[in-house]
Amino acid sequence: MVLTVGRRLHILNEYSSRCLKQVRRSHATETFKWSHRVFSGIQPTGSMHLGNYFGAVQKWVEMQNAGESVIYSIADLHSITLPQIPEHTQLCWTLGCLTTMARLAHIPTYKEKSATVKEVPLGLYVYPVLQAADILLYRATHVPVGEDQTHNLELVQHLAKIFNNRYGHTFPIPKAVVADSSISRLKSLRDPSKKMSKSEQDPKSRIEITDTPDDILEKCKKALTDFTSEITFDPEKRPGVANLITIHSLFTGLDPAEICEQNIGLDTGRYKLVVAEVIQEKLEPLRQQVQQYMSEPQYIEEVLNRGADKASVIAQQTWLDVKTKVGLQINEGSYRCLQVSEKRVM
Ligand code: AMP
Ligand code: TRP
Repeated sequence: MVLTVGRRLHILNEYSSRCLKQVRRSHATETFKWSHRVFSGIQPTGSMHLGNYFGAVQKWVEMQNAGESVIYSIADLHSITLPQIPEHTQLCWTLGCLTTMARLAHIPTYKEKSATVKEVPLGLYVYPVLQAADILLYRATHVPVGEDQTHNLELVQHLAKIFNNRYGHTFPIPKAVVADSSISRLKSLRDPSKKMSKSEQDPKSRIEITDTPDDILEKCKKALTDFTSEITFDPEKRPGVANLITIHSLFTGLDPAEICEQNIGLDTGRYKLVVAEVIQEKLEPLRQQVQQYMSEPQYIEEVLNRGADKASVIAQQTWLDVKTKVGLQINEGSYRCLQVSEKRVM
């Protein structure tokens, strides 16, 4: 995956041009059947790490390979006002008018992030509404994300329901598709009480997809564990070792119990070398593929532009529908009225 700063939404892929099907069975009890559509996004800050990969991106690839209709985006908050994406900000505003400040203030990601700054930017507060606009604009039915996004997804469902109740069926109620809970949140290698994150200052806290074998070895060696030497899986009492075992398990498909059994007799220092070797081996093909893509910026640009063009057709359709339902669409009749009144003024 290539992360490019500068555009709010780069569409990476839009599989199958299946159209959205709305089936109206009867006028009184309208039943809508939405075609599956998968939508997800990743922020463009920093480099993708194992938490992103196992928490979300691996699922994206699975769903794409299963032939689902998918749209994956790079969510670039820095340029939300660029003209390519007016539908996102317009729908964000519309949805913002349907929710309350109290509701947004209760969202855990907002609480966590706002606690770290003295002055809370408005953008932090409104962020989940923008995320709702991203998803609803494409009438997505499924949203593969990491477990930390589930509260944001609850807001999206809430907004879709409010909108549908007020203006008639417009959006499917999207479902979060979250990885198995035991592996849903990889921890920082430097502080296993925190999640592995792109925004953590210390790069040794995460293994990035593009890390070289030497980087991986160094980071595994420096991973914070504890003073017990044997290898046991106890996420509560031994979160550092459990995190390494989880990574090992994710890459090999082995059970944590099997891993512990295979490594009886090793101390944590030696086990770190075993984990490093597993990661080096499994990550190498991915790293090489990323390098190959990075050497072809024109191709990447082409894919992004092609995807953005396809996505913008859907976004424009949805926005027109929303605008009309909300009463913002100036139709031909009202346009003529404006012209008449303009003449009168002159
Ligand atoms: P972000 O890095 O915040 O743009 O996250 C992109 C995707 O990766 C989101 O669906 C997150 O929920 C997921 N994610 C980020 N960090 C982790 C982690 N440490 N463990 C599992 N999933 C994660
Ligand atoms: N909030 C997501 C994150 O922090 C990124 C994101 C933005 C997203 N818009 C989205 C994810 C729409 C899924 C769907 O990782």
